[in-house]
Amino acid sequence: MCFVAASDHNTAMGSSSAEHLNVKFPALSDLKAHARRRIPHFVWEYLDSATGAETVTARNRAALDAVLLRPSILHGEIAPDLSTRFLGRDYPVPFGIAPVGMSGLIWPGAERLLAHHAASAGIPYGLSSVATQTPDDLADVVGDQGWFQLYPPRDPEMRADVLRRARDAGFHTLVLTVDVPVASRRERQTRGGLVQPPRITPRLAMQVARCPAWAMGIGKTGMPRMRLIDDYAARLGKPTGGVLPSTAHVGYLLRTSPDWQYLRDLRALWDGAIVVKGVLDAGVVPDLEAAGADAIWVSNHAGRQFDGAPASITALPAIRAATTLPLIFDSGVMGGLDILRGLASGADFVMLGRPWHYALGALGADGPAHLHAMLEKDMISNMGQIGAARLSDLPARLL
Ligand SMILES: Cc1cc2nc3c(=O)[nH]c(=O)nc-3n(C[C@H](O)[C@H](O)[C@H](O)COP(=O)(O)O)c2cc1C
Repeated sequence: MCFVAASDHNTAMGSSSAEHLNVKFPALSDLKAHARRRIPHFVWEYLDSATGAETVTARNRAALDAVLLRPSILHGEIAPDLSTRFLGRDYPVPFGIAPVGMSGLIWPGAERLLAHHAASAGIPYGLSSVATQTPDDLADVVGDQGWFQLYPPRDPEMRADVLRRARDAGFHTLVLTVDVPVASRRERQTRGGLVQPPRITPRLAMQVARCPAWAMGIGKTGMPRMRLIDDYAARLGKPTGGVLPSTAHVGYLLRTSPDWQYLRDLRALWDGAIVVKGVLDAGVVPDLEAAGADAIWVSNHAGRQFDGAPASITALPAIRAATTLPLIFDSGVMGGLDILRGLASGADFVMLGRPWHYALGALGADGPAHLHAMLEKDMISNMGQIGAARLSDLPARLL
């Protein structure tokens, strides 16, 4: 249900004060509830659904809640320092924006808005290879904060060209996602009316009509499509122009199940950092190190791939114990305290996917900065409670 006026919340941060937003949307759950009213139902289900009975969603939450940190008393005044160094770069905060396919379907212009926020806030922005914008499209806004996420192209020439384009556009870190060996079933998404091949049915049109801000935004940006994939679909003679996430040409062009050789080949082709995303098993760490991974991203893809997977935070400590490589953690982070839980459990950096899109859905262009401030304040407040002046103090506070 979206009956919010189109102009609401689409102004720049200056016109609606940060304090006003803080009173109206103090927590991520407030942004999520508001976004749900402003995003058409079938799109919401794409953003918010997991696979199967969605037990991973609950498992991520329960396992994060079970991570306890020791409170501290009489430690005097503390001004927590959130800055960190990760993969050779300095960051003011230890969190960033995870790659989300078809971001621009979830909220019109999402990729540009997020890349812009990342560049101005100095945090990494992960661009999905199945986003609605290409690396070239974002070269002017992403600055030095671009990470490019690869779903591996089958065709070696396409692969080389995609990597070249990402590099030329300034994306310096490559993220190879490995937890999508096959397409997953997203039953709630299917129930929501997102059909394959994509089609705007009368039911979907009705949902769009109820969300004027979203509909007007799409009117301005144009119908969302996987522009990067479409470029090659056109070259390779496959049908193009899908309006909604299509697995038809994506499945043909992208090899969803890369093998170890694929990773080794990639290592030879890419001279920047390579992050392998979607690792839950400490047993594969030696092979990842041998293949030349620069960092490991511990993730269960927010439960979208495998409903029998462990909570991502549960998998983290064993992976930490198995390697000295930098670790990223994601899946189910809903606030600053969850970021601290990830860092205390062995992560060096934490990424968030859906929360940035809840923020965009709720507040449009104002959303990312508001979410960012919320996460920062939440971290600072909780670090004060546990007497942590630096991020490196966190593991010792783990109970
Ligand atoms: C709608 C949606 C689309 C996603 N698309 C991709 C993708 O294209 N590539 C990828 O590596 N991960 C993708 N992910 C996973 C995110 O990168 C990230 O691992 C996950 O969202 C983290 O959990 P969180 O949303 O609870 O923060 C997607 C997640 C969502 C919610």
